[in-house]
Amino acid sequence: MKVFVFNGPNLGRLGSREPGVYGSGSHADLVRLCETAAAELGIEVEVRQTDHEGELVGWLHEAADAGAPVVLNAAAWTHYSIAVRDAAAQLSAPFIELHISNVHRREEFRHHSVLSDLATGVIAGLGTDGYALALRWLEAHGS
Ligand code: DQA
Repeated sequence: MKVFVFNGPNLGRLGSREPGVYGSGSHADLVRLCETAAAELGIEVEVRQTDHEGELVGWLHEAADAGAPVVLNAAAWTHYSIAVRDAAAQLSAPFIELHISNVHRREEFRHHSVLSDLATGVIAGLGTDGYALALRWLEAHGS
């Protein structure tokens, strides 16, 4: 089984970006964490990050066409992008909405997600460990 992990805008800045909120690990560290977890689970993972909305939409189309499970941290787009929502709606395999921070303990505008009602499940507030947990769940349940 191959799982896609898609990370949205500003997540390439992990490590230097608001470390009190997002931790001190870099995006490269997050890629390593996912690859280590996937190897332990005996699955394949591909982790990508983009600051360009259209690129994420294209990646979601690719995952939809492949019937592949997705871990999606759409970052700020979570809160307002109908284009990302419409692309996520085309996924047929499970997808997990993920946030490193607990968005419900933060500003009001982060409390709403345009993705949550489409997602199979939502993980928020567990730091980057949430990615390993999401991969473990998908290995057990994801097609
Ligand atoms: C985030 C939370 C979003 O509100 C924010 O815009 C992000 C990251 C998280 O992982 O906690 O960029 O998705």
